[in-house]
Amino acid sequence: MFSHPRCFCVVAERGGKILGSNCMDERSDIAGIGPITVDPEGQNSGVGRLLMQAVMDRAAERRFPGVRLVQAAFHSRSMSLYAKLGFDIREPLVAMQGAPVWHVPPGHVVRAAEAADLDACNALCRRVHGHSRSGELADAIDRGTARVVEHDGRITAYTTFLGFFGHAVADNNAEMQALIGAAEEFAGPGLLLPTRNTELFRWCLEHGLRVVQPLTLMSFGLYSEPAGAFLPSILF
Ligand SMILES: CC(C)(COP(=O)(O)OP(=O)(O)OC[C@H]1O[C@@H](n2cnc3c(N)ncnc32)[C@H](O)[C@@H]1OP(=O)(O)O)[C@@H](O)C(=O)NCCC(=O)NCCS
Repeated sequence: MFSHPRCFCVVAERGGKILGSNCMDERSDIAGIGPITVDPEGQNSGVGRLLMQAVMDRAAERRFPGVRLVQAAFHSRSMSLYAKLGFDIREPLVAMQGAPVWHVPPGHVVRAAEAADLDACNALCRRVHGHSRSGELADAIDRGTARVVEHDGRITAYTTFLGFFGHAVADNNAEMQALIGAAEEFAGPGLLLPTRNTELFRWCLEHGLRVVQPLTLMSFGLYSEPAGAFLPSILF
């Protein structure tokens, strides 16, 4: 993220020593904050607040209508800090990991996404989230990690990749299950699943995925309640 031209990153310094850092992904309509880290020696002394304020000031300056982040739910200090800074709690999440499911429902085709799919995928994301995530998707198509689901002759789901730093959007749970069922792996600590979608959560459990850690999706500014199935990335 430090080297990506559309990510804004800051460090905190004291006496010439770096105490922490924070990043903001500016590739899409809504900005995504994180990862944020503060050296254990410097924690709980205001450094995290400064690092958060720096990226929030930037978001205001750049007129992002909304900002999102994903918080490690066990961490009482970060949850309190973000709530005090104005972030609302939106979704309880779990990171899930396991062996590939290898189960694609009949009639669904899962294939690599191409540049020609961008418009259809962005339209799907707008239907579900109210905004597109075109920058991240374009990067993922370039890298060759993005996948789409085709069903009844149209695109019903896409993912940049299934894992901590990837996101996915689908018309409904059956289409999301096709994406998850075709994945060769779940990168990093795993995919992030909103547990209010209990049907999808149970389906993942029944197909052998296990919970790695609980997290919380939080937002500041514009937020539309999702209208479909989605898996956020660790950045939102
Ligand atoms: C999470 C992290 C970035 C926060 O940074 P920090 O420098 O420790 O936090 P700060 O001291 O700036 O702010 C903590 C705030 O929470 C408050 N706080 C701390 N513990 C609290 C608790 N149990 N209940 C309520 N408030 C609490 C503090 O009073 C402070 O509020 P204030 O700014 O209004 O005074 C840092 O602790 C860290 O890097 N942790 C490990 C990595 C990590 O978990 N990162 C991602 C978390 S999602």
